Amino acid sequence: SGLITLDKGFKNTGSTTSDITFLDGEKGILKHRGYSIEDLAENSSYLEVAYLLIYGELPTQEEFSNFKAGIKENQLVHEEIKTILSGFPSKAHPMGVLSSLATSLTAFYPESLDPNRSKNKVNLTILRLLAKIPTFVSWSYTKRMGLPHNYPDNSLDYVPNFLKMMFSVPTEQYEIDPVVVDALQKLLILHADHEQNCSTSTVRIVGSSQASLYASIASGVSALWGPLHGGANQAVIQMLESIKADGGDVNKYVQKAKDKDDPFRLMGFGHRVYKNFDPRARIIKKNADEILSRLGIEDPVLEIAKKLEEVALKDDYFVERKLFPNVDFYSGIIFRAIGIPTEMFTVMFSIGRLPGWIAQWKEMREHKEPIGRPRQIYTGNPERPYIPIEER
Ligand code: CMC
Repeated sequence: SGLITLDKGFKNTGSTTSDITFLDGEKGILKHRGYSIEDLAENSSYLEVAYLLIYGELPTQEEFSNFKAGIKENQLVHEEIKTILSGFPSKAHPMGVLSSLATSLTAFYPESLDPNRSKNKVNLTILRLLAKIPTFVSWSYTKRMGLPHNYPDNSLDYVPNFLKMMFSVPTEQYEIDPVVVDALQKLLILHADHEQNCSTSTVRIVGSSQASLYASIASGVSALWGPLHGGANQAVIQMLESIKADGGDVNKYVQKAKDKDDPFRLMGFGHRVYKNFDPRARIIKKNADEILSRLGIEDPVLEIAKKLEEVALKDDYFVERKLFPNVDFYSGIIFRAIGIPTEMFTVMFSIGRLPGWIAQWKEMREHKEPIGRPRQIYTGNPERPYIPIEER
C-alpha cells in the first residue's frame, strides 16, 4: 500500500485523457471540441451540439439530416414501457423512473449486452437513447400528473416534440411557443457535457466493465440525482422558496451557510473545478431576465436569487473559498418559467447531459480504457481470531 496515493473525492487525480471538453476552472472557460460554450449556446442547437460531442465534428447538412432522421425513427418506445410505468407509485421521483426505464432498454434490446457488437449497432444504441429518453421523461411527467401519455410527433423537431409530449392535453390544441423552445434549447446545450464530473465518471466506470450502454447511462442518471450534483437545481428553487416564505432575508441564509455546525449549504454555489464564475451560470443569468420578460412572467424568486448572489459574493467566506454561483443557481428559474415542475428539473438536466455521457462512454471504449478500479489504503483490524457467537 506504500505505492498508493490517496486522493479522496479524486480532487487531483486525472482518470483519463479526453478530446471532448476543455475546462479551465481558474479562468472560467468551457469549450466542447474546441468551440466555446458561449459560441455554441448563441449559434448552435442542442442536437448539433450532441452530434459534435459524440462524433467529434460539427455535422454537414447531410450528416445532420441523417442523424435527426435516425432519432425520429426511434422515438417510439415499446408499449410494455407503459406497463412498467403503471407499476410505479404516482408520485415516484422522475429520476428514479428514468433510471429504471433506461435500464429496461437492456431487456428490449439485449444485443446491447454484447460489448463487441458492430459500430452500426453501437450507433443504433446511441440513437435509441437520444430518441427515447425524452419520451421516458415526458411519460414520467404525464404519469405523475395522471394524464394520458402522448406519443412522439415525428413532424416536429426534437425540442418542440418533447414539449408537446409533456404538455399536450387531450382537450386542448397545444401551441408551441418559440420563446419556450429557444429557452429550453439553450439550457440543454449548457448542460451537454462537463468532462469528468460525478455522473460522467460513473458512466465511464460502469461502461469500463463492458456493461451495456443503457445500463451505464442509467447509472449516470442515478449519480446525477444527488443534491451535490444535478439534484442541486431542484434544491436551489426549494431553498429560494423557503427564503421567500421566511420573509426574504438572504443575509440570514448566508450566515447559516457559513456556520460549520449547520449542515445547510447555499445550493447552487461552489464547484469542484470552477474557482471563478461558472461560464454557464453567466449565460443562464443573462437569459433568465430576458426569457422571463419575453414570457411576461415576474418571479419573485429571481429577485431573491440576485440578492443572495450579491450578498454572498461580497462575503469573505465565499470570496476566500472562491465560491461562485454554478449552472444550477439560475437554471431552475428558467425551467419553472417554461412550465417545468420543480421535481422535474434534474431529469431535464439528464436530457441535457445525455450526449456528454454518450460521447464520454464512446471515447472510453474507442480508447480501449482498462476497467476502472481504484485502490484503497486499508485502515481496519490487521488480524484477529474468530470467536464463536456464544463466547462474544
Ligand atoms: N455553501 C457553503 N459552503 C460551501 C459551499 C456552499 N454551497 N460549497 C463549498 N463550501 C465550503 C465548504 O464547506 C468548504 O469549506 P472549508 O474549507 O471551510 O471546509 C469549502 O467551501 C470547499 O468545499 P468542498 O465541499 O471541500 O468542495 P468540493 O469541491 O468537495 O464540493 C460542491 C463542491 C459543488 C459539491 C460544493 O461546493 C457544494 O456542496 N455546493 C452546493 C451544491 C451544488 O450547488 N452543487 C452543484 C454543483 S455544479 C453542477 C453539478 O455538478 O451538477
